[in-house]
Amino acid sequence: MSYLVLARKYRPQRFEDIVAQDHVSRTLQNAVKNGRIGSGYLFCGPRGTGKTTTARVLAKALNCVNGPTPDPCGECDPCKEITAGTSMDVLEIDAASNTGVDDVRTLRENVRYMPTGGKKRIYIIDEVHRLSAAAFDALLKTLEEPPPHVVFMFATTEPGKVPQTILSRTQKFDLKRVPVKALAGHLSSIARKEGLDIEDGAIKLLARKADGSVRDSLSLLDQLTAFASEKITTETVVAALGMVDRQTLIDFVNAVAAHDSKSVLAMVKTIVDGGGDIRDFTAELLEHLRLLMVIATDEKSGELLGFTSGELDELIRQAGNFKLGDIVRLIKIGMDLNRDLKSKTGLDERLLLDVAAIKMAELEGTIRLEEILTRMKQEPAPPASGNLFGPDQKKG
Ligand SMILES: Nc1ncnc2c1ncn2[C@@H]1O[C@H](COP(=O)(O)OP(=O)(O)OP(=O)(O)O)[C@@H](O)[C@H]1O
Ligand SMILES: [Mg+2]
Ligand SMILES: [Zn+2]
Repeated sequence: MSYLVLARKYRPQRFEDIVAQDHVSRTLQNAVKNGRIGSGYLFCGPRGTGKTTTARVLAKALNCVNGPTPDPCGECDPCKEITAGTSMDVLEIDAASNTGVDDVRTLRENVRYMPTGGKKRIYIIDEVHRLSAAAFDALLKTLEEPPPHVVFMFATTEPGKVPQTILSRTQKFDLKRVPVKALAGHLSSIARKEGLDIEDGAIKLLARKADGSVRDSLSLLDQLTAFASEKITTETVVAALGMVDRQTLIDFVNAVAAHDSKSVLAMVKTIVDGGGDIRDFTAELLEHLRLLMVIATDEKSGELLGFTSGELDELIRQAGNFKLGDIVRLIKIGMDLNRDLKSKTGLDERLLLDVAAIKMAELEGTIRLEEILTRMKQEPAPPASGNLFGPDQKKG
């Protein structure tokens, strides 16, 4: 059996199968249903969220033998050819490798030909922001008066780099990062179809690690199935991807809240000895602190939808140990660490992490000192209120 990576094997072939981009799919389906088919579409959004996929499904919707139809059959020749990438009427151009004006001129020549079998001649231009300025100009001429049988579909991860002249001639659709919960659901259903034995916790970790990209989540799953012989557990994910699980982060931050420098250093040691990547840990810790900040601001934030009520309770409990200003200060220390790790200071990464961990755990001490200095300059202040990191007036 030939091996097909999951991301390719599970590329959605119908609008219904595209995860978490309903706002785009619905609008496109309605437009097709009502015969309002434009001549230029622009799909924007982070990598691996469905831009190329949506363009191809729309191409099918237009060229299906039943088309234009909001529900392409997937069975007819045009549909099958589009899926296989062999359709003569759907041309995919990667602007990243064809950035020149000559390529666009060829395209302009090409545009005059009528579709061979399908109804429309469709140009899917990926990474359109990579075209040169001259190529954009040339393309614009085509866009100004496109022949009625031509539809352009552009995709880009960087809409800010697409010239206004192109923006104004296309309908723009913004695809979103796929939320953790939707991503986890998608991963579970694929795992089921593949007969994979994978723990829920492991799926959650994967979904979080993928940072909203469906393709990344599926590549990670590929990696894991290659790594694990049988059941994929949370531990497998932690070991295979050098990730930190939520419990480790919670334990670490609890130790910080308790000003327990000894435990904090011991945890760093465990993480490093276990082969954990210091930069990854820092990134995960920052994200965890950011979550605590979100919770401290709004417990009902939509960002928290991906968590089970058990996890959320634990996070809320943890956030309750801090004042908002404390969390912000911890984040500041984490960001400094992140920056130091990136700038090649030549310093030992482990040392940087140790120092930052101690700074976090000793935060109270630092602030108390500042306080004492301020107080020395001012009138006697009321006694400290017993908050973890000092009295209320320090609230940030
Ligand atoms: N919204 C989605 N729903 C389901 N699967 C998706 C979705 N987005 C991406 N995928 C999966 O990821 C793969 C890549 O998606 P696609 O090529 O559409 O991403 P893209 O947004 O064009 O990314 P890039 O910016 O890297 O070109 C698909 O084959 C599919 O398996
Ligand atoms: Mg793409
Ligand atoms: Zn069809």
